[in-house]
Amino acid sequence: MSIRLGIVGAGTIGSVHAAGITAAGHEVAAVADVDRAKANLLAARHARAHATDRIEVLLADESIAAVVIAVPNRWHKDLAVAAMRAGKDVLLEKPMGLDAAECRELNEVAAATGRVLQIGMANRFTAVGQEAKKIAESGDLGHVYHAKAHLVSRRGVPGLGGWFTTRSLSGGGVLIDTGVHLVDLLLWLMDFPRVERISGRVYSIFGKRMEDYVYESMWAGPPRFDGVCDVEDSAHAMLHFAGGGTLDLNVSWAINMPACNIQGGGMMGLFGDRGGVTFELFGDHLDVATQRYGRNVDTRVMLPEVDQFKEQVVAFVRCVETREEPCAHGQQGQCVQSILDAIYQSSEKQQEVTLERKK
Ligand SMILES: NC(=O)c1ccc[n+]([C@@H]2O[C@H](COP(=O)([O-])OP(=O)(O)OC[C@H]3O[C@@H](n4cnc5c(N)ncnc54)[C@H](O)[C@@H]3O)[C@@H](O)[C@H]2O)c1
Repeated sequence: MSIRLGIVGAGTIGSVHAAGITAAGHEVAAVADVDRAKANLLAARHARAHATDRIEVLLADESIAAVVIAVPNRWHKDLAVAAMRAGKDVLLEKPMGLDAAECRELNEVAAATGRVLQIGMANRFTAVGQEAKKIAESGDLGHVYHAKAHLVSRRGVPGLGGWFTTRSLSGGGVLIDTGVHLVDLLLWLMDFPRVERISGRVYSIFGKRMEDYVYESMWAGPPRFDGVCDVEDSAHAMLHFAGGGTLDLNVSWAINMPACNIQGGGMMGLFGDRGGVTFELFGDHLDVATQRYGRNVDTRVMLPEVDQFKEQVVAFVRCVETREEPCAHGQQGQCVQSILDAIYQSSEKQQEVTLERKK
């Protein structure tokens, strides 16, 4: 059945969500953005959508069952809490919150109000993400003892000087922006093993003298040299799982890596004692390493194109209708966020951090 959804935040990803909602056969009923012109622009692309610059107007509309929240990170928690208290189910963009404490509060409100809270982990819904999950669950890899998440750009700081690089609005840099996707994806593929210890380092190199930054590309627009950049542009961490096993994370918005070594979609990998699988984040195939007939065999699995934002909203609406727990639920969001918090903490203390065991 088709449902009516509202979108809060009519920026880059709000527009992508709107297209995903339409592709999934649902209706964009309203668009709220503090910038009225942006709300108008996005609403104009959806015949029956109304625009507002006041979220309360959208939340008061009882014909709207659910909302997608796609605003800068600073407002994720406050707006998602307001939406759940107003009786709306919520698909909340990543990161779930600025830190694990915010995530905990979101989970408490979701439990108290009985609302569906799905976190926007769209990479779980790509063709490679879905196929990697099938392979991970098949047992063909044997015991998976190591995972790798590597994604770097030469010069790709999003909107240098804007909200992405202003800690008070974003909560951090590339780790909370991109690292959050990678940690979530790999942990999900591994069925969320308990992380026991973390050693991490984050670096803020390219924002120190913004005028020296050689601009190449940014999805959030060209640099604003009069703005703020007080977040990290690289993060490197080793996660140690209880009972052994590791995840090696390398993520950079900007790093002096020669272009010949940069793959657009990076390299994600799961490595087991019987096989391994690697893939690019936005790729059209996975490569699987196994042994057959006494030889090492590589298999390339080609995949059809998938609209991850359509698939994400299909999964979300199914939960809205059935009230089942979403695939990317708030407890997982909180777990991922506590790992990011620990990486920042480890970097600041320059020592390994032990994660508290969940009671
Ligand atoms: N899943 C993904 O792959 C992905 C990709 C990009 C961004 N994101 C996430 O989506 C969110 C938005 O990112 P973006 O790139 O679209 O940013 P953006 O700057 O392009 O858009 C944000 C929009 O929110 C509006 N806004 C700001 N404060 C608001 C408020 N209090 N109430 C209503 N509207 C408000 C702004 O006017 C702007 O139009 C971020 O949390 C980001 O991390 C996710």
